[in-house]
Amino acid sequence: MSATMTPTAASRDFALIWNSLPSPALSVARNGAIAAVNGAAESFLGASERQLLGQSLPALAGAASRVAALVEQVAKNHVSMAEYDVEFTWPDAPPRLVDLHAAPLGEEAEAVLLIFHPRAIAESMDRSLTHRDAARSVAGMAAMLAHEVKNPLAGISGAAQLLAMSLGAEERELTDLIREETERVGKLLERVEQFGAMGPGRHEPVNIHDVLDRACRAAKAGFAAHARFIEEYDPSLPPTMGDADQLMQVMQNLLKNAAEATPKVGGLITVRTSYRAGMKVRGPTGGYESLPLQVVIADNGAGVPEEIRRHIFEPFVTSKSTGSGLGLALVSKIVADHGGVISCESEPGWTRMRLRLPVATARDLEAHSNSEESAA
Ligand SMILES: Nc1ncnc2c1ncn2[C@@H]1O[C@H](COP(=O)(O)OP(=O)(O)OP(=O)(O)O)[C@@H](O)[C@H]1O
Ligand SMILES: [Mg+2]
Repeated sequence: MSATMTPTAASRDFALIWNSLPSPALSVARNGAIAAVNGAAESFLGASERQLLGQSLPALAGAASRVAALVEQVAKNHVSMAEYDVEFTWPDAPPRLVDLHAAPLGEEAEAVLLIFHPRAIAESMDRSLTHRDAARSVAGMAAMLAHEVKNPLAGISGAAQLLAMSLGAEERELTDLIREETERVGKLLERVEQFGAMGPGRHEPVNIHDVLDRACRAAKAGFAAHARFIEEYDPSLPPTMGDADQLMQVMQNLLKNAAEATPKVGGLITVRTSYRAGMKVRGPTGGYESLPLQVVIADNGAGVPEEIRRHIFEPFVTSKSTGSGLGLALVSKIVADHGGVISCESEPGWTRMRLRLPVATARDLEAHSNSEESAA
């Protein structure tokens, strides 16, 4: 932090923490001047604190940059904001892809704290196909696959059954193998088909707690029977707009993953809802959207394997011998269709899936009740 600070023990601790943060962080005054820079930011920006202090962030990053716009918005609205996949330009450096978090500092937002999360270069290259696009292309393939593969598959399985009748026990092992494998492919196709079959969905007020209740009840009676559940719901949560059945599918897929991850003994699944005002995310239309409904589904399982952690929302990414890797791809598509975001935090020993959704606005609710009336 700036050298003018009184060197009390607390500020020394603060300076230590500030400089040990692994993420580049800056504080920016309302006029855009850089007021503090941590060690990670010095290396990220390729300049020393002394060179950077007092410089204008908009002038360096480009006045039209999304970084400058984000700082301005946070200072104006006094709320924390996040923006993902931002191309960050800086003098004498190639453009870099970053996620940005910005938070107001002080009661009047005298300054803005800006934290960069640089994305790996490899990742920035394969980002052109976003999760959502990937899910879409799966949807497009689904109808073709179902049609072209399912029928011959039934034929193969039937032929194997006929063959089995005229074969000895030893050869029958082979026809059994054919039938088992065709069954497995058939199941996989059914999962893929869910993508194609999924229509645009309804657009009506949905109480998230009703959805969670249904999903948890089904989970406890079936695949999650071995796990203990902790459910902590914020009763004042307002409704979101969307399709209850699709959201049910989201919760079910998340609970199923949690159940599959937790140990058979001592398995614990926590489902928590809360209202988080102030969380804004840049939406697909470019405007900032508020996503205050938060659902967290956490488990005490082994954690997402490190090597696939960044790809779990992409189709066909799985660590399970019988998994299709479509559960989370479907989740991410449905959540995106509902204007929400989903993220995953995981370490060995725990996993937390965090879902944020918009609330139904007064206008949504009114439009819905009008359409109900005209339908009646
Ligand atoms: N709660 C969790 N704990 C640990 N790993 C998880 C968790 N949720 C997801 N994963 C990891 O992410 C991968 C992808 O999950 P996804 O639900 O998309 O597919 P899957 O569960 O493998 O197969 P399917 O859902 O189609 O049966 C999983 O294989 C697993 O490695
Ligand atoms: Mg799954």
